Amino acid sequence: MIHEFEALVVGAGGAGLYAALEAGKKAKTAVLSKVYAIRSHTGAAQGGISAALGNVEEDRAEWHAFDTVKGGDYLVDQGAAQILAEEAIQAVYDLENRGLPFNRTPEGRIDQRRFGGHTKNMGEAPVRRACYAADRTGHMILQTLFQQCIKNNVTFYDEFHILDIILEGKKCGGVVTIELSTGEIHIFKAKAVLFATGGFGRMFKTTSNAYANTGDGPAILARKGVPLADMEFFQFHPTGIKGMGILISEAVRGEGGILYNNKQERFMERYAPTLLDLAPRDMVSRAIMTEIKAGKGIRGDRRIDDYVYLDATHIGKDVIQAKLPDITDFCKTYLGIDPAEEPIPVQPTAHYGMGGIPTDIHGRVEADENGNFYEGLYAAGECACVSVHGANRLGTNSLLDLVVFGRRAGIHMMDFVSQADWFQVNASAAETAERQIAVLTDGKKGPHGEQIREDMQVTMMENVGVYRNETDMEKAVDAVRGLRQQFDEVRVQGTGRAYNTDLLELLELKNLLDLSLITAVSAKNRKESRGAHAREDFPERDDENWLKHTLAWLDQDTVEIGYKPVDTSIWVPKPRIY
Ligand code: FUM
Repeated sequence: MIHEFEALVVGAGGAGLYAALEAGKKAKTAVLSKVYAIRSHTGAAQGGISAALGNVEEDRAEWHAFDTVKGGDYLVDQGAAQILAEEAIQAVYDLENRGLPFNRTPEGRIDQRRFGGHTKNMGEAPVRRACYAADRTGHMILQTLFQQCIKNNVTFYDEFHILDIILEGKKCGGVVTIELSTGEIHIFKAKAVLFATGGFGRMFKTTSNAYANTGDGPAILARKGVPLADMEFFQFHPTGIKGMGILISEAVRGEGGILYNNKQERFMERYAPTLLDLAPRDMVSRAIMTEIKAGKGIRGDRRIDDYVYLDATHIGKDVIQAKLPDITDFCKTYLGIDPAEEPIPVQPTAHYGMGGIPTDIHGRVEADENGNFYEGLYAAGECACVSVHGANRLGTNSLLDLVVFGRRAGIHMMDFVSQADWFQVNASAAETAERQIAVLTDGKKGPHGEQIREDMQVTMMENVGVYRNETDMEKAVDAVRGLRQQFDEVRVQGTGRAYNTDLLELLELKNLLDLSLITAVSAKNRKESRGAHAREDFPERDDENWLKHTLAWLDQDTVEIGYKPVDTSIWVPKPRIY
């Protein structure tokens, strides 16, 4: 079946919905998503969205931009960070006007809480910058944007999984998808396509990411020759529930929660004397792992399961119930404890990819390091790299990234499609995708994908995790190459067409394997420590040789590496001290 839309959005999280809302003002627009829109992973974002509203204490967009650059260990493109911080204020008020139920101050303004790395006056002291709706901020953003899209006649195709993109040279003409309920192939012709497919944390064993976060957008583009940027930078959130990885929001520390080791020491005093538990995430995750390695963790079942405590018992039951209700539920459900009465056992969890599809500030996908673009192809949100997060994202800047750059991409698409021509797309566009499925379903016996997935996740977790070194990353590259070869022999177990989840999981696994290879090779290549990329064998940041973005091209079994400059036009890079 062939469909035709002027603007097509793949992915129904915050970035996709905001883009659709803007593009849909003038262009015939559709959103397709492999899950129902309101089940998108944006809904799992908990603690807040940052904007220097200054509602509870003085704050400025300039301070926000600086914190973003410093938090990202100076790999952030500074012009993009300035846009992020300046447009944040209007973006939050737009969400409020569209119905988002933010928490309020007693005077009725949007309330704000502390978050990691958010400071006043360029690092002087913590500042309350995160606007929030209890600990369900992402959920509320998703609901608000979805309702607005429905009201504004955006068309939705739920449970459509993307298989391929239609490219003629550097011009995009649509996508090929599979409808999960029938197994039928659908072609969507479009003048402009936006990828907003979210993250790829499922390449790691312990992650806060949903099962659906399998990097479909970046992987498909990588196979088509699009470079991926800064894939070595993957953020581990310090506080996942031990052994499970489920997110315990930084908002717990924003409301006063404290991390302790097995000696009841507030160990962050030694790592970040000014910001303490609210230092940027890379630093807090490393601090936790260092404590554990020094034998100061609380013993889990095995050494690898050791954890630390996040104590919120002094905050008060009323505050916890009012401002952290979901966290309370998670602790009760998964740990059988009440966080108002007992400390929460936590470990770092794979949370967010700073890298992804390289774009400019309008979401246009870059083809190379020389400023060339794909025509009619856009990306926004976690799958994209604009780059406002650099080597380490600050908490609450991801929801902000979605709305600011989702909106910008939608506006650019709307203008683009008004003067763009259609190009001829016919049914043969689906051939590659159909071949891919035919191999997996040809009835031969092959290894089960489940073991390959498990091996990939353990390999990435153990060798490309919080701390890295050459030997481990070499091991990861070899292992992932081997797993990709094994994948060639994999076949689906059941060959039915309707809701063949085995087939879907294999298609997703292929995407994760390709992104794992790119991540491991990019990480092995960068011989310095910066932000979330912490190398035991190169412990220092090296601006002289490595203040540059990585671009990685997937070519069969190899990854070609190139570079592009970082925009450092506003602040001179300095050592990060918190
Ligand atoms: O901790 C959190 O609530 C997560 C927020 C974020 O990743 O921005």
